[in-house]
Amino acid sequence: RHDEAGPHPTPSDVHVPAPGGPIRLSVVVPTRNEAENIPLLLSRLGPALRPLDAEIIVVDDSDDETPAVLARHAADARVAVRLLHRPPGARHGGLGGAVVLGARHARGEWVLVMDADLQHPPESAAMLAGIAMRHDVDVVVGTRYAGEGSNEGLDGAAREATSSWATRVTKSLFPRRLSTISDPMSGLFAFRRDAVDLDRVNPIGFKVLLELLVRHPAARVAEVAYEMAPRHAGRSKASLREGLTFLRHLSRLRSQRLVGQMRERPAAARDRLRELVRMIAFGLVGLSGMVVNTAALWFFYEAVSLHHLLGAALATQLSTSWNFALVEALIYRRNRHGSLAGRAARFFLLNNLLLLLRLPVLQALVWAGVGILTANALTLVALFLVRFLVNDRVIYTS
Ligand code: GDD
Ligand code: MN
Repeated sequence: RHDEAGPHPTPSDVHVPAPGGPIRLSVVVPTRNEAENIPLLLSRLGPALRPLDAEIIVVDDSDDETPAVLARHAADARVAVRLLHRPPGARHGGLGGAVVLGARHARGEWVLVMDADLQHPPESAAMLAGIAMRHDVDVVVGTRYAGEGSNEGLDGAAREATSSWATRVTKSLFPRRLSTISDPMSGLFAFRRDAVDLDRVNPIGFKVLLELLVRHPAARVAEVAYEMAPRHAGRSKASLREGLTFLRHLSRLRSQRLVGQMRERPAAARDRLRELVRMIAFGLVGLSGMVVNTAALWFFYEAVSLHHLLGAALATQLSTSWNFALVEALIYRRNRHGSLAGRAARFFLLNNLLLLLRLPVLQALVWAGVGILTANALTLVALFLVRFLVNDRVIYTS
């Protein structure tokens, strides 16, 4: 969307050497206060790009002297360097908006996106672009999570762990598109300009590649491993606020995709939604059953002084009866096939099989010093998903 990309500044060509031929690759480098990194970036990136007929497009949102430093050192790169400076107040979409703007100005057939802080070693970045341009694919992802890749350059173990967990969660939200992509949040990637519709790519925040992949489900993707280096100078612009922007971006992508599914395959989307509603209802019934179970266990253990495992087993029979009645009446009223006795038998069989799993865990927790009522509740919660799935897919099929 043009409106969110903001008023397009005119590209100011800082340095354009006599173009020896057509430009095949546009390297888009977003910058925000990277003055100290520009000289080394240009002096390493320039030589690495020389065989590739490349131009460099720096999209800058700085309020330091980055533009001036760039102008002073552009000649060092010995490839065309262009600067798009967005004035304060026109920095729409942050890093993501900057990348899209750079891509709009690209003259090459391929666009390579990389960071300015030398965490993406320029030599690896150029190699990735070279590989991309020799293959019949649409997107090439620089990955830290496959082959020889590594994310050790991320500052600190906490950031490394966050990154790898965020990657896992994101992949599980878009299983079909991302299952074969090990690093969908990479900031280093290349794409074929005509395989991407920039009007469909409108990222907020840092995760441009994710947006691009989800918006182009048919794009052919390959990966090239690289080792992420530590930041050369200055500080990362990642922040708690960027983290929240990322969550907003994720939920926007996910809900827009659900809307898209409803349009394309309405029956499937409606089934997913109904399943979600059943799961929530099942959870609420389970919660009420847990209250029954806990009260019963308290009674058998504290008031009647039965052994705690026996108490747990009896409590489970009571809460299973309670749950069965509610589930039959409230959730699966229309899915009651066969006889009541048959359904009850299967319902009790499931909960008693799960009870056999729960008892040893319960005992271990008690030995570890966890209170019996707490331990009992924990083992009940842990098996929620199994219970729901067996009920939903086996006992009460539609
Ligand atoms: N134009 C512009 N505008 N550039 C920005 C902005 C902005 O608002 N914010 C950051 N940048 C630039 C930085 O100057 C740098 O060149 C690049 O974007 C990456 O920013 P960093 O602050 O170094 O981000 P990071 O190292 O924490 O995150 C990188 O790794 C992540 C994966 O772990 C980025 O590549 C992310 O995109 C990536 O997801
Ligand atoms: Mn960085």
